Parts: sequence; structure tokens; C-alpha cells
Amino acid sequence: MSSSDSQWWRDAVIYQVYPRSYADSDGDGVGDIPGIRARLAHLSALGVDAIWMSPWYPSPMADAGYDVADFRDIDPVFGSLAEAEALIEEAHAAGIRMIVDIVPNHISSEHPWFKAALADPEAKERDYFWFRPGRGDDGERMPTDWRGEFGGTTWTRTPDGSWYLHLFTPEQPDLNWDHPDVRAEFESILRFWFDRGVDGIRIDSAALLLKDPELPEVLEDSPHPFHDLDGVHDVYRSWRRIADSYGGDRALIGEVWMPEVERFANYLRPDELHAAFNFDFLGCAWDPRLMRDCVDRTLHAHAAVGAPATWVLSNHDVTRHVTRYGREDTTFSFDNNLDGTPVDLELGTRRARAAALLSLSLPGATYIYQGEELGLWENENIPPEEYQDPMWGRRGHSRDGCRVPLPWTGDEAPFGFTTATPWLPQPAEWKDRTAQAQTGDPSSMLELYRSAIALRRAEPGLHRGEMAWLDLTPSVLAFCRGQDFACVVNMSGAPVALPAHQSTLLASSPLDGDRLPPDTAVWLRMRT
Ligand code: NOJ
Repeated sequence: MSSSDSQWWRDAVIYQVYPRSYADSDGDGVGDIPGIRARLAHLSALGVDAIWMSPWYPSPMADAGYDVADFRDIDPVFGSLAEAEALIEEAHAAGIRMIVDIVPNHISSEHPWFKAALADPEAKERDYFWFRPGRGDDGERMPTDWRGEFGGTTWTRTPDGSWYLHLFTPEQPDLNWDHPDVRAEFESILRFWFDRGVDGIRIDSAALLLKDPELPEVLEDSPHPFHDLDGVHDVYRSWRRIADSYGGDRALIGEVWMPEVERFANYLRPDELHAAFNFDFLGCAWDPRLMRDCVDRTLHAHAAVGAPATWVLSNHDVTRHVTRYGREDTTFSFDNNLDGTPVDLELGTRRARAAALLSLSLPGATYIYQGEELGLWENENIPPEEYQDPMWGRRGHSRDGCRVPLPWTGDEAPFGFTTATPWLPQPAEWKDRTAQAQTGDPSSMLELYRSAIALRRAEPGLHRGEMAWLDLTPSVLAFCRGQDFACVVNMSGAPVALPAHQSTLLASSPLDGDRLPPDTAVWLRMRT
């Protein structure tokens, strides 16, 4: 890719592929790499700049692949390393960069390190983890009362009576990042994938790696024992040196859940990560004032460290935004609506269309979670006995509703995803949301995304153009980019007059003359 693409991560459109659910080629009901290769043309036609691939490594799948048993190979359910290499090559030939997902906080309990550590308390691998005696005379109480990230406790007792730490499931033991072998191993893993040509690394649970070795309890007025410890920044400085040693166009993108923007921005200092996911935007309610504050907060925090903002509406962990925006409470949630909150999918879809134009025209990089371009909603009707997510049972939530396999063709499930039964059931109503049904229909979500991404590519103001708010009415979010581009989003319940402009470039829903209907966004060419 040419040098004009340097610092591509600053304004790229990045598409998250969740490999279990993209496309199945071998009829086992689970997506795989040959399936992705066969449907790479979908991503070329969509016009994305990069793919972020959720974990595809060998894994017992206790947490859908976020429990990695070997970072240098591919799980047979997804294919082989040779197929992964072929996909990287084919994506590059199509002008699409590749980002792989690295999970450094924990590994699978089936990883050889953990097996060695369990088998022999004297093994050197024992120190790669957090093994500790229990409290009380007979060590029966776990070493701390820390709550897990999925709810529940964070320690499991081993047959020899000691306990090991896992912030997620017992099948995901936490690594000890104070140990030099752990650091060296992950540096070598980064090189392994950079040597295979990948353009970026997504870093899972990036703020959790370091733990206070004294293992204090979590107390309100004391430093947190495992979240955002200062030492974690040394890890990312060394990773940055590795990324830079590959010529400067390899990006590190952190999953950093952090309400305090200053602490968040620390990860994006010039010698650390290139970008991090903006969950503030993902969690923001459909409200013009809150949304404007969120955009300001985000841009301000990123400008302070010279990093690009990211705009994320959905991913494999949260309720799809068509569903979120169709509820009365439009803020972020993990659950699959077990309490039966009413959802207006028509309203949610309309807002999701407007949000697409918003997220694709704010300054920075935009992330698309697979299926968002098809307008998919959360499948809230998966029978609980079919849930696969380990969060179900611990926290009473399941993330499966946003992980349902994509509908490609045809009128009935499995909609061309597989020839077998898909690993999670697809709603019958998705017959209107297949890629095939939407292609060529100018009113479809898919064609809206295709047009918006094509316009974004061609529009100079949407690359590194400065942004300035246009002050219309408080119920409207409006801003200019560059010389003469503007985006206007009506988040109120009533139509509003559009500002004076030269022409309309794209509208998320039909306009009402010169008025912008509720829950609609428009891209305008302004008069200069
Ligand atoms: C964040 C990932 O996105 C999520 O899917 C996973 O369960 C946790 N990290 C643990 O790896």
C-alpha cells in the first residue's frame, strides 16, 4: 500500500470480522477462513480500509476464542495458518489491511504454560501466573474478594490447595506481567504476526495486565489493584518500539474501557498505542446535547496527545445498536433483553442509519461491526439453553444476541451462511436483511453504507479536515469538515430546517423538502 496511506489508522474505516459468524465454507455451522476468503468481495464492495479479525487461534472456546491456547496457529474450526496467510495476502491485494486480535491479559487453561504450571508447583511456568495460598488456617478462603469482569469470583483452587487468579472465566488464567518471560513471549508473538504482514494489532483488555502484587482489596479511595496500573504503559512502550521497527505503518489499537478521559488518553501518548476504542460514544444516549458533549470530550482528550479518535457503535460484546436505539433507554448495554424491554426496530433502524452518517463523518477512524452494514438487530429470541456465552450464568447476561451468523442470500435461514445448522439461530425476518436482498436497493442499509464510505473516500474534508460545530437548534447536531462539507443530524422528534447549502450529498432517510425529518442525518455541500 502506497506511502500516501501513511498513518492510515488515523482515518480508516475498519470492519470487525467475528470469524465464527461471517461465513461457513465446510458445513459445520461455524464460520471459517475459507468462508471469509470466499466473501472478501463483500468487503471490497463496501469499501473498508481494514479488517480487524477477532481471535482465530487454537482455543477450547470457553470464551469464543478469547481463551487462546496457541498464538502462533489457527484453530482447525477456522482453518489453517496457510489459509490465514492466504487471506492476509488476498486482503492486501484488494487494498484491505489486516488487524489481528491479541489477548495478553490471560491465556487458555489448555495453553502448555498453564498445564505445566498446574502439573508441578515447582515448574518455572508457575510464576507466569498468579498462584497464591488461600486465606484462613486451612487456606480455604480465596486470596482476595475481587469481583470478576464477568461477575462472580476471580480465584479457582487447584488440587494442591493453592489458588490461581482469573479476572474472566476459570478457563482464562491471568498472566503475570511482572515476569520477563511473559513480556518476551508476547513481543515474539507480535513479531510473528507482523512478519506475516499484518498491519495492526487489536489489544484485548489492554488496561488489566498489571496487578498490585500485594493483592489489596478493591476500595473506593485506594488505587485499583488491577485496573489501569501505571506500569502497564511500559508494556505498550516496548510494543510501540516493535511496531515502529517495521517501518512505521503498523498500528496498535487498544481495548481500553475507561471512564476517565485523561487516564484513557495516557494510552495514546506518542510512544504508546496508536488508537483505542471510544466506548464513550458507543454508550452515549440518542440525545443531541449528550452526543455533542461526548464528541467534544473525545476530540479534546485525543488532541491533547495527538492521537486520532475512534467511533464505534457496536461490537461482539454489546447489544447491537439498531436494538439499543429502538429502546426508550438508548444507552449501552451488554444484555440480550432478558427483561423484555420493548424495542421499536423501525425507529432503531432509522437512528442507526443516521448514526452511520454521523460516525463516518466525525474526525478519526470509524469501526463497523460485521452485520451493522446490513442493519442487523440483536437476536433477543435465542432460547437460553442455546446460549454459548460464558457471561450467561455468571452475570445473567448473554452476548450471543449480537454474535448471530450473517445472512447472505435466500429467503430462509441459514441464509447462505452455512449448509448446516448455524451455531446460533438467525431470525426469520432477516430475509429482508441479506446482502443479496439489499444489493442494488438504494433505500437499503447496505447501499447507504456503500455510498457513505465511497463518498468519504472521495471527500477531502473527511480525511484530515478540521471540524467545527454549526450552531443550529439545540436538537440538532451539525458540523463542518474541511472547506465545504457538513453533516447535520436531527435527534429531535420534529422536522428542522436545513442550513443554507449548495447541494445534498447523501441523506440517511428521504428529506421533507428543505426540512430534515426526525432521526435523520444528511451530508451537505455548503456554499463557500
Ligand atoms: C474483551 C473481549 O472483547 C471479550 O469478548 C472477551 O470476553 C474479554 N475481553 C475477555 O478476553
